Amino acid sequence: MKRALISDIHGNAEALEAVLAHIRGQGVDQIFCLGDIIGYGPDPLFCLDTIMKVADLTILGNHDQAALFDPPGFNPVALRAIMWTRGQLENDRRDMQVSDARWDFLGELPRRHDEGAFLFVHGSPRDPTNEYVFPEHIYEPVRMQALFQRVEKYCFQGHTHIPGIFTEGGKFLTPATLGGVYELGEEKMMINVGSVGQPRDEDPRACYVVLDTDLNSVTFHRVEYDVQATRKKILGLPELDNMLGERLVTGR
Ligand SMILES: [Fe+2]
Repeated sequence: MKRALISDIHGNAEALEAVLAHIRGQGVDQIFCLGDIIGYGPDPLFCLDTIMKVADLTILGNHDQAALFDPPGFNPVALRAIMWTRGQLENDRRDMQVSDARWDFLGELPRRHDEGAFLFVHGSPRDPTNEYVFPEHIYEPVRMQALFQRVEKYCFQGHTHIPGIFTEGGKFLTPATLGGVYELGEEKMMINVGSVGQPRDEDPRACYVVLDTDLNSVTFHRVEYDVQATRKKILGLPELDNMLGERLVTGR
């Protein structure tokens, strides 16, 4: 079975559409979304409606949660963006059934999905919604051990917007060093699928992963999209900090 794993779309319609078009060419059976559909970006409603339609499973992200409840620990830029996003959800009263369905969908998202050897979260196996696992954490073996203790075999996650594979042996492998494809072996792994709508590994292209459970392989894909179109939308919205548009251009 082939599964596309997408995460951290962050209201970026152009990136989401480009990735879904690319996925259609991969012959995948299912799409899993690992959270943060909304927040930061200019098209939260479009992205939410699209994910509700196309995703076979969606995990709750910290920004999705923040649209529902008051967010703890958000910086001022993220907070202003999520308040604007919440307003978009609240003020769209064109169709109350659609509006209610969005709130119900967000309110019912699971924090984790366990499938034997495969675990799917937004943040980490220890704190599925909020904990960041950054590449530099490989230098903290106690932390990494505590995380891997909670992984049966393979954990798929997002949240940092930095794609790559953490091995139990203490390495972080970037998609570039892997040549894009990785065969899952006996060692435990945490696989960060990267971000569709706000990549932060200095590559502005949208990122996602295809997991092939027959070949036991993970393939990282990068997809070009109209970054300038999304940037311009953000610059045109006073509630969204200009920095949120500019960072898309550099992928930071
Ligand atoms: Fe995110």
